[in-house]
Amino acid sequence: MNMHVIGLGYVGLPVAVAFSELGNVVVGIDKNKEKIDLLQKCESTIAEAKLKDLLIKNINTKRLSFSTSLESIGKADVVTIAVDTPTISGRGGSVDLSYINTVVHDIANYLDGYTVIVIKSTVLPGTCKKIENLIKQLNPKASFDLVSIPEFLREGMAIHDIFEPDRIIIGVESQRAKNVLEKLYSPFKDKTKIFFTSRASAEMIKYASNSFLAMKITFINEISNLCEKRGCNVYDVAYAMGLDTRIGEKFLNPGPGFGGNCLPKDILALANFGKSTGSRLRLVESTIVANESRKKELAAKILHLVEEYKNPKVAFLGLSFKAGVDDCRSSPSTDIITELLDKNIDVCVYDPMAIDNSKKIFKSRVTYAVDVYNAVKDADLIAFGTECEDFKFLDWAKIGTLVRNKIIFDLRNIINSQEAKKNGFVCHIIGNSNI
Ligand code: UGA
Repeated sequence: MNMHVIGLGYVGLPVAVAFSELGNVVVGIDKNKEKIDLLQKCESTIAEAKLKDLLIKNINTKRLSFSTSLESIGKADVVTIAVDTPTISGRGGSVDLSYINTVVHDIANYLDGYTVIVIKSTVLPGTCKKIENLIKQLNPKASFDLVSIPEFLREGMAIHDIFEPDRIIIGVESQRAKNVLEKLYSPFKDKTKIFFTSRASAEMIKYASNSFLAMKITFINEISNLCEKRGCNVYDVAYAMGLDTRIGEKFLNPGPGFGGNCLPKDILALANFGKSTGSRLRLVESTIVANESRKKELAAKILHLVEEYKNPKVAFLGLSFKAGVDDCRSSPSTDIITELLDKNIDVCVYDPMAIDNSKKIFKSRVTYAVDVYNAVKDADLIAFGTECEDFKFLDWAKIGTLVRNKIIFDLRNIINSQEAKKNGFVCHIIGNSNI
């Protein structure tokens, strides 16, 4: 099939690459010329596992190409829109549809012959219907169906998640479009559940899923606070809860709170949507409040641990919103560090992938280290903000010779605390007072 993907970010680019790998002829389109130039040279523009190899392979087979121009849209059987739908600042979580609207205005008059338009951007229930009406207004002669196929791709694992999905949700209300999509998704038909539903339901499934994940994380984070106070081990609690298949083991890892470009934005949008439709989502609203408080509470704990030192220095390791990505958007680590900086704490930061992005946030407010050992020099406390694999295998004897005081606060339970303790460190981890 001929597929065009508009918007080549963390979702659009992996989708374009993966669907070309599945045998389709795919054109990836983005307004950003610099990005298109790099992609045409087989350079990946995002840090995403396995992406680059597939990019090179499919450009070479000529199934995959990139462009800034929408002129070839008329040739497409399927046009996928995957542009960002950020939160409008200061509007309580309202979703900014301006990027989608711009794309729709741009493509409406290029549509030629029957086209299935897929909205992959995260949008609230009812949005697809509105976009459909807009296209009809802009080009009354256009022959198209507009469908919702929300994505469930984790950043850093997008290629894996496209090829090994837990489910595929297709919101479609026309048999003609359904036939096209059954063909496009036929490689998955014996592999996973392909669930067809209405467009509004598909739109809601995405928000409900992300909000539920955020609630699950927040629930275990609050249980972890209680565990600390009452001498329980939250990791045992989470493990044993997860053995109940009704609960499930995933997303029960306590940590510094959920972050990233999706969960915080989507849960805010859903809460706001609930309020505006007169159907409040109190669990969702509480989750937002609890997640914000968590970062402040953890920053307060760090401040408490170093309060006795004069001009304390904190080494903060792991800056992205989770390990394995370079993305610092709504990262719990950066929020906690900002709290520390506001209290005039001297912070030195390190991350194996996200240093460049963290510089956009902190500028000259922190010191940037080139590795862990460089970061911990003269530190009074070392904090671990992501579950980066490298942090499991640190040389604690060496670190012991570099620091000023031997205090660790491990927000992800990632380090080898036995080794650290052997070398004289006092280890604080979340959710376990017995370490
Ligand atoms: C999330 C969803 O997991 C994807 O299914 C969805 O497609 C994507 O948003 C999206 O809407 O595009 P992602 O933003 O990559 O994916 O992040 P997650 O892997 O879900 O992690 C989110 C946050 O929760 C991170 O800060 C992570 O560290 C934290 N987390 C996750 C925990 O603290 N504990 C857990 O057990 C799991």
